[in-house]
Amino acid sequence: MKKNIAKMLNDQVNKELFSAYLYLEFNNWLMDQGFTGFAHWYRIQAMEERDHAMLIYDYLHHNNETVDLQAIEQPNTEAQSVLDILKAGLEHEEYITASIHDIYEVALKEKDYRTKEFLDWFVKEQGEEEANANDLIDRATILGDDRKALYIMNGELATRAYAPPSLTIT
Ligand code: FEO
Repeated sequence: MKKNIAKMLNDQVNKELFSAYLYLEFNNWLMDQGFTGFAHWYRIQAMEERDHAMLIYDYLHHNNETVDLQAIEQPNTEAQSVLDILKAGLEHEEYITASIHDIYEVALKEKDYRTKEFLDWFVKEQGEEEANANDLIDRATILGDDRKALYIMNGELATRAYAPPSLTIT
């Protein structure tokens, strides 16, 4: 694997672990506000982010590359409402999508078709994550300040089940 691609994938491990950390912070904030269903949704999301990090971690090892584990930045949440959290979630996913696309572009340029194929799963996954984030924002925006309705949505989100990633590294 080319050094520049290995470096970008290493950085992506850190970004995915930070995503897990950020969503745990969202979980914290939402639990404190009593929105346990929304909190649960982000707790599951944090588990998925850890899975993303581990997939890239395993892919690097599978390609005989060293994984350079870097410090994870402290997440910072300055939310005033559930909607603020949901918007911050979407903004973060857009940042991650751009980062995955950057690696994808370099993989294509370097003719690293194995990495390109590996990243295909992530490109699709990011599409789904942005769609989910947008959907949550749309629904919470319609509800506005109606805390009773938000509470019903909260109950619905409490049912989200964890599913391991469909991708495996062999
Ligand atoms: Fe793994 Fe939500 O990006």
